[in-house]
Amino acid sequence: MHDVSSIVATDDAFLADVLDGLSRAKKVLPCRWLYDERGSDLFEAITRLDEYYPTRVETTILRDRAREIADFAGEAPVLIEYGSGAGVKTELVLGALRAPVGYVPIDVAEEYLVQSARRIESRFPGLWVGPVNRDFLSVFDLPTSVPPGRRIGFFPGSTIGNLDAREARAFLSQMRRHVGQGGAAILGVDLRKDVGTLLRAYDDREGVTAQFNLNILARINRELGGEFRLDRFRHEARWNAVENAVEMHLVSLADQRASVGGVEIRFREGETIHTESSRKYDREGFESLAGAAGWRISEAWVDSAGLFSVFAMSPRAVRG
Ligand SMILES: C[S@@+](CC[C@H](N)C(=O)[O-])C[C@H]1O[C@@H](n2cnc3c(N)ncnc32)[C@H](O)[C@@H]1O
Repeated sequence: MHDVSSIVATDDAFLADVLDGLSRAKKVLPCRWLYDERGSDLFEAITRLDEYYPTRVETTILRDRAREIADFAGEAPVLIEYGSGAGVKTELVLGALRAPVGYVPIDVAEEYLVQSARRIESRFPGLWVGPVNRDFLSVFDLPTSVPPGRRIGFFPGSTIGNLDAREARAFLSQMRRHVGQGGAAILGVDLRKDVGTLLRAYDDREGVTAQFNLNILARINRELGGEFRLDRFRHEARWNAVENAVEMHLVSLADQRASVGGVEIRFREGETIHTESSRKYDREGFESLAGAAGWRISEAWVDSAGLFSVFAMSPRAVRG
């Protein structure tokens, strides 16, 4: 494996985001901080829950369409994966592609990034693997050592849904720059559906999603010396009809004070910290977002129940 190219998410950046987010009138924490090693473990556990249909359905689409995906990507591609996590779907896609030459996983969760890069390298001997440990919302270039080959962006897991409109557009523009005019992308998007199904997916009976959400406070305690009482907050999933998003919140169970970095943070009973939004798209909405970032949709594969879509996208022609 090539060295991990790294702009590590530092404690300073974490503390700055926590202090900024928790000093706002509507308290908020950026969702990328949900993913330390424990958070990534919990996310993997979520993907195996009955209620969490997105992973199951997306995996089925990728498996059923493996041949078409390989045709779309062409010979000897380089796969660039954003928010690669455990890299489970990656193996499926790499296994389908025709003689892939390189794989560049990009993720903020360093332990998961390194472990999955090693595993993929051992399963695909000869594949060039160059992990990049950084925030995919920051502006960056891919390592110059990435081998030549058609670049295919891969952004599964409906992680695009965690980005607001401005972030999503900037992300898609950057991915287009990374793959170049001759490249392409495969992207998984969760579709709008009845609110009951959506809320169950983000508030499971076993309480795994609750643990995932509460882990952000545990992480503040562990890494920043914060003093949050986890038993004084509860997880809540809410539907925001204006944003078309399931929101995760941590609801304060009492009037209380917590602290981090020597700063006291006050909560009223019922006040919440908004920790994640998962936006849901329909085809037209996603197509117009992607179009504004320089992409056209070549294929939209959807499961038979219409729950999830995998889009194959190509750069729009540049007007000369
Ligand atoms: C919803 S999970 C999806 C994981 C996997 N791709 C899948 O499809 O199951 C989101 C992944 O993106 C990573 N992630 C979230 N925000 C990120 C950011 N701003 N920059 C880089 N990685 C990020 C998380 O660490 C996590 O691995």
